Amino acid sequence: MGLYYKLKSDKHSSVLENAEKMEVSIDLDQPGIPERLKLIHLTEEDLKIIKSAQPLVQKYIDKIVKAFYDAILQVQELRDIIEKHSTVERLQKTLRVHLIEMFQGNINKNFVEKRLQIASTHYRIGLEHGWYIGSFQNIQNVLNDILFQEIGRKEEVRIISAAISKILSFEQQIVLE
Ligand code: HEM
Repeated sequence: MGLYYKLKSDKHSSVLENAEKMEVSIDLDQPGIPERLKLIHLTEEDLKIIKSAQPLVQKYIDKIVKAFYDAILQVQELRDIIEKHSTVERLQKTLRVHLIEMFQGNINKNFVEKRLQIASTHYRIGLEHGWYIGSFQNIQNVLNDILFQEIGRKEEVRIISAAISKILSFEQQIVLE
């Protein structure tokens, strides 16, 4: 461990160090939003940490998206849905943009409307809730791997990982409402 561990932790301790400076917003006038945020204790502080982690998501977006599609293409039912309605290439682009935006730190009308659109698209193509929820697991696994790889201090990884877990949960709550 030694020096390598220290260098690693110094390199990206910037995620938490920079979090305080991040500009984020929550529009509490959106119906249902305050209650949902309260339920999972998703705060402005979490959003700042999430936004501060956005460059890491950008850096590794190919890896995250690949893990996602490698997993869902193993399931014939999901493969069939994709082939019927779209292409992996097109969906990869959509997911890239969507995931990076998820780390933007703004929860507002636009955020909610985009998720309702996803819900309606997934409903149209017959994607069951269980598949949708399950497909988040690989995203979360890869994100955790990235945090452990890039950030030396376990306590920091835990804090960032907890914030990320909350935004992923919030996303699912809105899409599945
Ligand atoms: C469409 C995100 C899971 C299949 C979309 C769109 C987004 C999205 C942003 C575009 C919606 C629009 O603007 O109309 C996500 C996220 C997922 C997820 C964040 C989970 C982490 C899945 C899974 C499948 C899937 C598991 C498996 C079949 C599709 C297809 C479309 C689509 C085929 C395009 C339908 C069309 O264009 O006609 N998804 N998706 N998605 N999603 Fe998902």
